[in-house]
Amino acid sequence: MKTRITELFGIEHPIIQGGMHYVGFAELAAAVSNAGGLGIITGLTQKTPELLANEIRKCRALTDKPFGVNLTFLPTVTSPDYPGYIRAIIDGGVRIVETAGNNPQKWLPGLHEAGVKVIHKCTSVRHSLKAEAIGCDAVSVDGFECGGHPGEDDIPNFILLPRAAETLKIPFVASGGMADGRSLVAALALGAEGMNMGTRFIATREAPVHQNVKDAIVAASELDTRLVMRPLRNTERVLKNAAVERLLEKERTLGAGLKFEHIIEEVAGVYPKIMQDGAMDAGAWSCGMVAGLIHDIPTVKELIDRIMAEAEAIIRARLARMAG
Ligand SMILES: Cc1cc2nc3c(=O)[nH]c(=O)nc-3n(C[C@H](O)[C@H](O)[C@H](O)COP(=O)(O)O)c2cc1C
Repeated sequence: MKTRITELFGIEHPIIQGGMHYVGFAELAAAVSNAGGLGIITGLTQKTPELLANEIRKCRALTDKPFGVNLTFLPTVTSPDYPGYIRAIIDGGVRIVETAGNNPQKWLPGLHEAGVKVIHKCTSVRHSLKAEAIGCDAVSVDGFECGGHPGEDDIPNFILLPRAAETLKIPFVASGGMADGRSLVAALALGAEGMNMGTRFIATREAPVHQNVKDAIVAASELDTRLVMRPLRNTERVLKNAAVERLLEKERTLGAGLKFEHIIEEVAGVYPKIMQDGAMDAGAWSCGMVAGLIHDIPTVKELIDRIMAEAEAIIRARLARMAG
């Protein structure tokens, strides 16, 4: 399939694996790229720029296809060494960066000079337009359904994507709630040039996470996610568990007095415990409503081949027949 996104990134299928903390390691990124999509290593999961450089080298040994690195700009007190991470990306020969979180404007000139294409993940039309205005090459439009941080506007993709199509000139992919060939065709119909998936890629054989995480996603329905940290304007969609129930109880009882310190135990440093040790109640971890559409744990190639075959069948058979 050819779209502006496959052309921009030099990939076979318009399917991107979004950056995911403690999931987006070289093994998964390479598997997605080898299957014709765009795999993404999560930059900040690597604790130093040197470790990111190693992960990039590892990924390059596993695939000769394009892959990217995610850089999430967080509102943290002590800022990570972003210049160091960007050096590791450029020196490692990576030509695609997925940015997320704060405005990436400051980092764009350096990345563009080095020939790096930037896709910025946004949860609103106004942020997408800003990304276009500052020179991003594409955007990933992340609807309210998404796992992770959906922003504070709560606009689902059935509205957000056509609104993005009405306003943007640069290409965009649909992100949030995407699982299969139906998602891809719907995303294309709504004006996107492809799709970005997070949660779906965790439930694959190659995802380097504990089996308990994959099983939890397969067992979950679309009713099993919760929004946490809304009072802090840092809303995150997570899978419900004992820690999330505790966190929500603190939000209810502390109300406007809630501070980050109150919920540190439920949100800080929990990813290694969940993703690597499989301690499913250790804290709040991002998961999309799309869990309700995930019923198996295929290989990445089986998943991507299936999505493309299903999308083709929908377009050529079902939709063509309906259109007469
Ligand atoms: C476990 C998990 C961790 C994530 N970590 C990050 C991250 O570190 N940076 C980022 O930009 N997005 C992160 N995301 C968001 C994904 O890249 C993607 O935008 C989102 O999962 C799309 O929604 P979906 O889960 O419905 O496919 C994460 C998502 C999940 C499920």
